Amino acid sequence: MAASSRMGVLAVYLTLMAAALGLGGTSYDVLLGRRDATTASIDDANNDIPTPFMDLPALQASFESHGLSLHDLVVLSGGHTLGYSRCLFFRGRLYNETGTLDPTYAASLDERCPLSGDDDVLTALDDTPTTVDTDYYQGLMQGRALLHTDQQLYQGGGDAGDLKKSQTHIIIGLVTNS
Ligand code: HEM
Repeated sequence: MAASSRMGVLAVYLTLMAAALGLGGTSYDVLLGRRDATTASIDDANNDIPTPFMDLPALQASFESHGLSLHDLVVLSGGHTLGYSRCLFFRGRLYNETGTLDPTYAASLDERCPLSGDDDVLTALDDTPTTVDTDYYQGLMQGRALLHTDQQLYQGGGDAGDLKKSQTHIIIGLVTNS
């Protein structure tokens, strides 16, 4: 995995850990810091991490090329419970994948992300972009996955689709019962 993306994963991990503690979850000690590099590489970032336009086989191949499994791909994508995406990255899904998009959600996106222009306007990856919660997972089930890649994991068919669905149900069950 690219050095820059490792830092992103670490940041998300720490946020998830803080959220879990806030919810009364378990904790364990980990060493912080990094051993892979002291600099970031723009080439690695551009060439070695998956794009939001990939279909399921390409996503899986990309993760596997870094020693990460299908299970890793599905679980780590849950990082999208936090943050935002630029219009540029979900325009294709918005205008070409109406079959898997909730119409009300799609209409709200239309206003923020027109067919051309406004590439950098931000939209939340779920309805609660600063909170680690179940909204991202609820959204996947309700046709509100913003990125093509997240939708692919949920409805991509085969093992990943099944895995994502079961992960979604497990996490929602854990949080609502806590
Ligand atoms: C499965 C492959 C993945 C793809 C294709 C993908 C794609 C994207 C895209 C396109 C954005 C929006 C970036 C922008 O608009 O500049 C984004 C944001 C984000 N991603 Fe991913 N991502 C993936 C995996 C991950 C993983 C594994 C994590 C962490 C565990 C993660 C955490 C985040 C976070 C936290 C944001 C929000 C950043 C912000 O608001 O500043 N993503 N991702």
